[in-house]
Amino acid sequence: MRLSALARPSLYLLSACAVAGLHAPVSSQPTAMAQSASQDVRPVQFSPSIPAERGVLVVPLASMDELPSRTAGLTASEQSAIARALETSEFTFAKRQQLSLRGIGEWHQILIVGLGDDAAQSDYQMVGAVTGRALLDEAESVTVMASGLTGEAAAAFATGMGLGDYRSDLYRAREEQVGQRGGVTIVSDAGPVARSIYENRGSAIIAAMNWTRDISNEPGNAVYPESFVERARTALSGLRGVRVEVLDENDMGELGMGAILGVGRGSERPPRMMIVRYNGVGPSAERPVVLVGKGITFDTGGISIKPRQNMENMRMDMSGAASVVGTVLALARSQAPVNVVAVAALAENMPDGRAIRPGDVLQAMNGTTIQVISTDAEGRLVLADAFSWIERNLDPAAVVDVATLTGSVRGALSDDYAGLFSRHDALAGQLVAAGETAGEPLWRLPIHESYAEDMRSTIADLRNSSSGSGGGAGTAAYFLGEFLSRDIPWAHLDIANMAWSGANAWKPDGSTGFAVRLLDQFVREFQPVETVE
Ligand code: BES
Ligand code: MN
Ligand code: ZN
Repeated sequence: MRLSALARPSLYLLSACAVAGLHAPVSSQPTAMAQSASQDVRPVQFSPSIPAERGVLVVPLASMDELPSRTAGLTASEQSAIARALETSEFTFAKRQQLSLRGIGEWHQILIVGLGDDAAQSDYQMVGAVTGRALLDEAESVTVMASGLTGEAAAAFATGMGLGDYRSDLYRAREEQVGQRGGVTIVSDAGPVARSIYENRGSAIIAAMNWTRDISNEPGNAVYPESFVERARTALSGLRGVRVEVLDENDMGELGMGAILGVGRGSERPPRMMIVRYNGVGPSAERPVVLVGKGITFDTGGISIKPRQNMENMRMDMSGAASVVGTVLALARSQAPVNVVAVAALAENMPDGRAIRPGDVLQAMNGTTIQVISTDAEGRLVLADAFSWIERNLDPAAVVDVATLTGSVRGALSDDYAGLFSRHDALAGQLVAAGETAGEPLWRLPIHESYAEDMRSTIADLRNSSSGSGGGAGTAAYFLGEFLSRDIPWAHLDIANMAWSGANAWKPDGSTGFAVRLLDQFVREFQPVETVE
């Protein structure tokens, strides 16, 4: 559904408040409507034969040789028309390449998509996503020729189509309401296998990715710590094995969480710490894998204010929190046999008369004192208290944090890999492998012991921003590591370069939902590692 009649008044009120610059008390602010720009989900079915309806036909191909078997069931004249079109076009069967043909048989459109010659599981999903995006505004039903592909590949393609079928124009009133669109039929000789993978895991990934992307794309006047919590509760409600716990500012005060409270001080919106447990293995469960996310619902930089260019994108600074909660949503929706906890450290970083200043000293929950050099290095502050809470309250098999932490990770890795930091080789290895399988690659970077010197303060235990230049992503990782004892296996993912992008062939402008698929894979495959390495 696009913006419903119900959603609009709320949007109006939100923008009215923003325009008037009202500093209304939180309680009188309008509640953010749960927006979703996603259109009606296309129903997906798996069938051994081609349905009667002639809408769009999708033919994924790695080579000309595959054409006869892939298009088995089409008429001879349809098959030869496709063959002639391929022979006379520039189509090279490269991964994600597309060729749209019209006027063949009764089909509304025949879309040929290239698979490349060495397609892995994540490639089938990616090609599916490109296909789903190409058909975003297509009202017709869609038939996908998947004969000859394994059940796993057909399911990955169907999952990808769902991922590509996503809109980020949450608040755009479209002139034409796109009505109910036709369904998708995957024609497959491995239909039962494909259907079960898709229904157990694929559809959960789609729902979780959509939730993660929606909440990351939402503006800062709609998503703030409390509304993040409410939207997560709504998404998780009724799922077996899920328990939600939320710490408010009073709880945090009692626990001595001076770091996250410090970050939240400049905002009218109080911080929150949200803990989502999902146990799919029962009370005898092994220790949980703990996922922690940076949840800065808007990062102005605080008193160390950011330049105005692109500041609007800093509504995505809660992407780590969105991804860890999204991962638990995916795992719980598919009732995966895992024991996992997501912790979202939520605050808004604003400049104000009550905001923390450069030079202020904060004390984190574990007693460590921190000299704030830059109020813009706030992500590590909220995570410091999340780590301290985890160490005191959970008995983690491993801790993985996900954060849009530093601009410097883009300098190091462009947008090809997220940064992975860990002192634990076995844990790092499992994360790299999961990233490869999921198509969300990680590159390991060092936590050099020399960073200890860079992060030393003359007045407190630590400073929150390094004295030297360079190593910005690494010194940030070093800082985080000071809030967990070294015998807990821990890894840090800096996704500041991956969480957001312009529109491309598989996604619209905005959130990428990065790390949901990687962490879903990682948690499912997790093998306990030695506590100290
Ligand atoms: N949220 C930013 C990092 C960021 C930058 C995310 C660009 C996405 C895109 C973070 O809070 C930040 O401001 N980091 C500073 C740290 C510095 C002050 C030590 C940075 O990277 O410049
Ligand atoms: Mn910042
Ligand atoms: Zn930030």
